[in-house]
Amino acid sequence: MRKSLIYSNAFLYKLFSIIGFYLHLRPYKRKYSIISECCEKNNSILDLGCGLGDLSDNIHSSCTYEGWDTNDIFIKHAMKKSINVKLKDILEYDGNPKYDIIIVSRVLHHLNLKDRKELMNKCLKYANKKVIFCDSYKQKNLYFFLVDLRYKLGLEKLLGDYDGLNESSHSLMYNFNDLISFLKSFGNCNIYRDSFEVIAEFIKK
Ligand SMILES: C[S@@+](CC[C@H](N)C(=O)[O-])C[C@H]1O[C@@H](n2cnc3c(N)ncnc32)[C@H](O)[C@@H]1O
Repeated sequence: MRKSLIYSNAFLYKLFSIIGFYLHLRPYKRKYSIISECCEKNNSILDLGCGLGDLSDNIHSSCTYEGWDTNDIFIKHAMKKSINVKLKDILEYDGNPKYDIIIVSRVLHHLNLKDRKELMNKCLKYANKKVIFCDSYKQKNLYFFLVDLRYKLGLEKLLGDYDGLNESSHSLMYNFNDLISFLKSFGNCNIYRDSFEVIAEFIKK
Protein backbone atom coordinates (compact mmCIF):
# COMPACT_ATOMS: atom_id res chain seq x y z
CA MET A 1 0.00 0.00 0.00
CA ARG A 2 1.25 3.49 -0.86
CA LYS A 3 2.04 6.04 1.83
CA SER A 4 0.35 9.45 1.72
CA LEU A 5 2.65 12.46 1.31
CA ILE A 6 2.62 12.97 5.07
CA TYR A 7 4.11 9.53 5.68
CA SER A 8 6.56 9.80 2.77
CA ASN A 9 8.62 12.64 4.13
CA ALA A 10 9.86 13.30 7.67
CA PHE A 11 9.68 17.08 7.23
CA LEU A 12 6.06 16.98 5.98
CA TYR A 13 5.07 14.59 8.78
CA LYS A 14 6.49 16.95 11.37
CA LEU A 15 4.92 19.99 9.67
CA PHE A 16 1.44 18.39 9.65
CA SER A 17 1.88 17.29 13.28
CA ILE A 18 2.82 20.83 14.31
CA ILE A 19 -0.17 22.28 12.42
CA GLY A 20 -2.43 19.67 14.09
CA PHE A 21 -1.17 20.64 17.53
CA TYR A 22 -1.60 24.36 16.95
CA LEU A 23 -5.12 23.86 15.55
CA HIS A 24 -5.86 22.35 18.96
CA LEU A 25 -4.21 25.36 20.63
CA ARG A 26 -1.62 23.05 22.10
CA PRO A 27 2.11 23.88 21.94
CA TYR A 28 3.97 21.21 19.93
CA LYS A 29 6.75 21.03 22.49
CA ARG A 30 4.23 19.59 24.98
CA LYS A 31 3.78 16.63 22.62
CA TYR A 32 5.21 14.02 24.92
CA SER A 33 5.02 15.75 28.29
CA ILE A 34 2.54 13.42 30.04
CA ILE A 35 4.05 10.28 28.53
CA SER A 36 7.56 11.23 29.62
CA GLU A 37 6.32 12.10 33.12
CA CYS A 38 4.92 8.55 33.37
CA CYS A 39 8.36 7.07 32.56
CA GLU A 40 10.41 6.87 35.75
CA LYS A 41 14.22 6.91 35.67
CA ASN A 42 16.34 3.80 34.93
CA ASN A 43 13.80 1.89 32.85
CA SER A 44 14.06 0.18 29.49
CA ILE A 45 11.48 1.60 27.11
CA LEU A 46 10.01 0.12 23.93
CA ASP A 47 8.17 2.63 21.72
CA LEU A 48 5.94 0.69 19.31
CA GLY A 49 5.05 2.65 16.15
CA CYS A 50 7.72 5.18 17.06
CA GLY A 51 7.46 7.32 13.90
CA LEU A 52 10.52 9.58 13.87
CA GLY A 53 11.53 8.39 17.35
CA ASP A 54 10.96 11.86 18.80
CA LEU A 55 9.91 10.40 22.14
CA SER A 56 13.53 9.40 22.77
CA ASP A 57 14.44 13.09 23.27
CA ASN A 58 11.85 13.43 26.00
CA ILE A 59 12.60 10.54 28.32
CA HIS A 60 15.12 10.67 31.15
CA SER A 61 18.71 10.00 30.08
CA SER A 62 18.97 7.12 32.57
CA CYS A 63 16.38 5.16 30.53
CA THR A 64 17.23 3.05 27.49
CA TYR A 65 15.07 3.60 24.42
CA GLU A 66 14.16 1.40 21.46
CA GLY A 67 11.59 2.27 18.81
CA TRP A 68 9.97 0.07 16.15
CA ASP A 69 8.20 1.23 13.02
CA THR A 70 7.56 -0.11 9.51
CA ASN A 71 8.06 3.29 7.86
CA ASP A 72 11.52 2.98 6.27
CA ILE A 73 11.71 6.75 5.64
CA PHE A 74 11.03 7.59 9.27
CA ILE A 75 13.41 4.89 10.51
CA LYS A 76 16.27 6.14 8.29
CA HIS A 77 15.62 9.69 9.46
CA ALA A 78 15.74 8.61 13.12
CA MET A 79 18.88 6.50 12.57
CA LYS A 80 20.68 9.52 11.11
CA LYS A 81 20.01 11.22 14.45
CA SER A 82 21.50 8.16 16.21
CA ILE A 83 18.18 7.19 17.77
CA ASN A 84 17.91 3.47 18.57
CA VAL A 85 15.13 2.43 16.18
CA LYS A 86 14.38 -0.70 14.15
CA LEU A 87 12.41 -1.35 10.98
CA LYS A 88 9.98 -3.84 12.50
CA ASP A 89 6.29 -4.67 12.47
CA ILE A 90 4.89 -4.03 15.93
CA LEU A 91 2.28 -6.75 15.47
CA GLU A 92 5.12 -9.27 15.47
CA TYR A 93 6.27 -8.37 18.97
CA ASP A 94 6.34 -11.66 20.87
CA GLY A 95 7.62 -10.50 24.23
CA ASN A 96 11.28 -11.03 23.29
CA PRO A 97 13.19 -9.20 24.59
CA LYS A 98 11.28 -7.79 27.53
CA TYR A 99 11.09 -4.10 28.39
CA ASP A 100 10.07 -2.31 31.58
CA ILE A 101 7.75 0.15 29.86
CA ILE A 102 5.97 -0.26 26.53
CA ILE A 103 4.55 2.83 24.87
CA VAL A 104 2.09 2.87 21.98
CA SER A 105 1.55 6.49 21.05
CA ARG A 106 -0.88 7.65 18.35
CA VAL A 107 -0.82 4.25 16.67
CA LEU A 108 -3.97 2.45 17.86
CA HIS A 109 -6.27 4.39 15.53
CA HIS A 110 -4.14 3.17 12.59
CA LEU A 111 -4.93 -0.47 13.36
CA ASN A 112 -8.10 -2.43 12.72
CA LEU A 113 -9.95 -3.52 15.85
CA LYS A 114 -8.60 -7.08 15.85
CA ASP A 115 -4.93 -6.00 15.53
CA ARG A 116 -5.47 -3.18 18.00
CA LYS A 117 -6.82 -5.52 20.70
CA GLU A 118 -4.17 -8.19 20.06
CA LEU A 119 -1.37 -5.64 20.29
CA MET A 120 -2.74 -4.12 23.48
CA ASN A 121 -3.12 -7.53 25.13
CA LYS A 122 0.44 -8.47 24.16
CA CYS A 123 1.85 -5.22 25.57
CA LEU A 124 -0.05 -5.74 28.82
CA LYS A 125 1.18 -9.34 29.03
CA TYR A 126 4.85 -8.74 28.24
CA ALA A 127 5.77 -5.35 29.79
CA ASN A 128 7.69 -5.76 33.06
CA LYS A 129 6.24 -2.72 34.77
CA LYS A 130 3.96 -0.52 32.76
CA VAL A 131 2.16 0.09 29.48
CA ILE A 132 1.20 3.52 28.18
CA PHE A 133 -1.33 3.92 25.39
CA CYS A 134 -1.87 7.37 23.96
CA ASP A 135 -4.41 8.16 21.28
CA SER A 136 -6.42 11.05 19.93
CA TYR A 137 -10.20 11.17 19.81
CA LYS A 138 -12.68 12.81 17.46
CA GLN A 139 -14.05 16.20 18.41
CA LYS A 140 -16.12 18.91 16.79
CA ASN A 141 -13.44 21.50 16.07
CA LEU A 142 -11.57 23.14 13.22
CA TYR A 143 -9.00 20.36 13.03
CA PHE A 144 -11.59 17.61 12.56
CA PHE A 145 -13.58 19.82 10.22
CA LEU A 146 -10.46 19.95 8.01
CA VAL A 147 -9.86 16.20 8.42
CA ASP A 148 -13.47 15.50 7.32
CA LEU A 149 -13.13 17.94 4.43
CA ARG A 150 -9.95 16.19 3.27
CA TYR A 151 -11.91 12.91 3.28
CA LYS A 152 -14.93 14.36 1.44
CA LEU A 153 -12.68 15.93 -1.20
CA GLY A 154 -11.09 12.53 -1.85
CA LEU A 155 -7.67 13.73 -0.68
CA GLU A 156 -7.25 11.01 1.93
CA LYS A 157 -4.81 8.90 -0.10
CA LEU A 158 -2.70 11.94 -0.95
CA LEU A 159 -2.72 13.84 2.33
CA GLY A 160 -4.43 11.55 4.84
CA ASP A 161 -3.43 9.06 7.52
CA TYR A 162 -2.13 6.41 5.09
CA ASP A 163 1.02 5.07 6.75
CA GLY A 164 1.80 2.62 3.93
CA LEU A 165 0.60 -0.41 5.86
CA ASN A 166 -2.88 0.20 7.21
CA GLU A 167 -6.10 1.62 5.79
CA SER A 168 -6.75 5.28 6.52
CA SER A 169 -7.70 5.86 10.13
CA HIS A 170 -10.55 8.17 9.18
CA SER A 171 -13.28 5.79 10.31
CA LEU A 172 -11.27 4.08 13.05
CA MET A 173 -11.05 6.93 15.53
CA TYR A 174 -13.25 6.97 18.65
CA ASN A 175 -15.00 9.89 20.29
CA PHE A 176 -13.86 10.70 23.84
CA ASN A 177 -16.32 8.51 25.78
CA ASP A 178 -15.87 5.52 23.51
CA LEU A 179 -12.08 5.80 23.71
CA ILE A 180 -12.19 5.89 27.52
CA SER A 181 -14.55 2.88 27.67
CA PHE A 182 -12.35 1.00 25.21
CA LEU A 183 -9.15 1.69 27.19
CA LYS A 184 -10.82 0.81 30.50
CA SER A 185 -12.01 -2.51 29.07
CA PHE A 186 -8.35 -3.63 29.32
CA GLY A 187 -8.26 -3.17 33.10
CA ASN A 188 -7.54 -0.59 35.76
CA CYS A 189 -5.56 2.37 34.47
CA ASN A 190 -4.78 5.99 35.18
CA ILE A 191 -6.36 8.19 32.55
CA TYR A 192 -4.97 11.61 31.61
CA ARG A 193 -6.61 13.93 29.12
CA ASP A 194 -4.47 16.43 27.30
CA SER A 195 -6.22 18.58 24.70
CA PHE A 196 -7.16 16.16 21.90
CA GLU A 197 -5.49 13.09 23.38
CA VAL A 198 -6.06 10.52 26.08
CA ILE A 199 -3.15 8.81 27.81
CA ALA A 200 -3.85 5.56 29.66
CA GLU A 201 -1.21 4.29 32.08
CA PHE A 202 -1.48 0.61 33.05
CA ILE A 203 0.77 -0.23 36.01
CA LYS A 204 1.46 -3.91 36.49
CA LYS A 205 1.12 -5.36 39.97
C1 LIG B 1 0.74 8.80 13.82
S1 LIG B 1 2.28 7.95 13.77
C2 LIG B 1 2.75 8.08 15.48
C3 LIG B 1 4.24 8.21 15.67
C4 LIG B 1 4.71 8.40 17.10
N1 LIG B 1 4.43 7.24 17.93
C5 LIG B 1 4.12 9.64 17.72
O1 LIG B 1 3.53 9.55 18.80
O2 LIG B 1 4.27 10.73 17.14
C6 LIG B 1 1.81 6.24 13.63
C7 LIG B 1 2.99 5.36 13.30
O3 LIG B 1 2.62 3.98 13.47
C8 LIG B 1 3.34 3.24 12.52
N2 LIG B 1 2.72 1.91 12.36
C9 LIG B 1 1.44 1.63 12.04
N3 LIG B 1 1.25 0.28 11.99
C10 LIG B 1 2.46 -0.29 12.28
C11 LIG B 1 2.92 -1.63 12.37
N4 LIG B 1 2.11 -2.69 12.19
N5 LIG B 1 4.22 -1.84 12.71
C12 LIG B 1 5.06 -0.80 12.91
N6 LIG B 1 4.68 0.50 12.82
C13 LIG B 1 3.39 0.75 12.51
C14 LIG B 1 3.29 4.10 11.27
O4 LIG B 1 4.30 3.75 10.34
C15 LIG B 1 3.48 5.49 11.85
O5 LIG B 1 4.82 5.89 11.85
